[in-house]
Amino acid sequence: MQRVVAKPGKEKKVRNFYPGLFADELAEAPPNPGVVRVCSSQGEPLGTGYYDPQSRVAVRVYRFEEGPLDRAFFFGRFQRAQKRRAGLGPCHRLVHAEADGLPGLVVDRFGGVLVVQVRNRAMEALRGVWLPALIEATQPGGIYERSDVEARRLEGLEERVGVLYGVVPPVLEVEEDGLLFPIPLALAQKTGFYLDQRENRQRLEAMVRPGERVLDVYSYVGGFALRAARQGAYALAVDKDLEALGVLDRTAARHGLRVDIHQGEALTVLKRLLAQKTPPFHHVLLDPPTLVKRPEELPRAKRHLVEVLRLALRLLAQEGWLWLSSCSYYIGPEELLEVARRAAADEGRRLRVHALTHNPPDHPWSLHVPESLYLKTLILQDDPL
Ligand SMILES: C[S@@+](CC[C@H](N)C(=O)[O-])C[C@H]1O[C@@H](n2cnc3c(N)ncnc32)[C@H](O)[C@@H]1O
Repeated sequence: MQRVVAKPGKEKKVRNFYPGLFADELAEAPPNPGVVRVCSSQGEPLGTGYYDPQSRVAVRVYRFEEGPLDRAFFFGRFQRAQKRRAGLGPCHRLVHAEADGLPGLVVDRFGGVLVVQVRNRAMEALRGVWLPALIEATQPGGIYERSDVEARRLEGLEERVGVLYGVVPPVLEVEEDGLLFPIPLALAQKTGFYLDQRENRQRLEAMVRPGERVLDVYSYVGGFALRAARQGAYALAVDKDLEALGVLDRTAARHGLRVDIHQGEALTVLKRLLAQKTPPFHHVLLDPPTLVKRPEELPRAKRHLVEVLRLALRLLAQEGWLWLSSCSYYIGPEELLEVARRAAADEGRRLRVHALTHNPPDHPWSLHVPESLYLKTLILQDDPL
């Protein structure tokens, strides 16, 4: 096996279970990409990884002890991931990249169908090894690949979308707590469903009372709005994606629920609702897409969030609840609190922090990988004295 040697001091990263080393953190690297033994500057073995100088992160570490990256290794990782998701129901994230010890691989389970994303050069190169292990460990009816994410483009990899294995129906039936969403595989977002908001959707459903008004902004297929409607609330969903709203509509019809829909850009729709003097809402949910992919985009994104929040506060009933999510790593808990404080000050509203939640257990947050805390939701209540 070829080897890479970390520069003095850099081995600490790997010793502390961080699964990557940049090219400038290496004192020695082999001539060709491939599986490598990762060594400290003193030559002690730290683990096994994959070296590729064309990757954003030159060494991706998969094992923190010596050993091959073979089918048995990946089989063990998949079995462990599966065991940890026992009891989570038929639809969940089965593999969450580095947080499951598999940097560059995401696998979502939708009943008998797996949807996979391969996000880095290492996992792409090792496809012939891990894919049979995944099939053996999970015995799926079919596997669909959705490797069309930006991370992949940054690695210099081409998109790969299509059936990888077995039989995959054109429309996935995604079940969440009794709601059945018919998700067309061609729907362009994520692996098809935002599984990571399941716990917040459960929280909302437990809080909503019949007759209340709920505004679900950036609704996608209406996971929040449909649960509110199921509790007897009036629900209004806003999204710019017409196809996703079509799924919402079909899901509502299937379950005999009513959700009003506004297709359009969030800011524009919120302004229109205010201009129409729409009655206030007891819950306003804001779950925007990833607004920041690079640190330099942060100030502009924060200004944007303050603007959206100000409108949301104007639409919020007295003692109503405001839910603000961020799936951008760079917009962390502190940034969420800051934008909420700025918007509240502008609007003269006093707010109480009810909870600050993070990505659920099937999207694990590893202490050693700060990037694995990506989803934060601030739940605020209007709190006039
Ligand atoms: C993180 S997803 C929301 C997930 C959803 N809350 C759920 O529980 O499934 C973000 C959504 O925002 C929508 N979106 C992105 N930019 C938008 C904009 N400017 N105005 C309205 N919707 C937008 C996307 O179409 C996507 O459905």
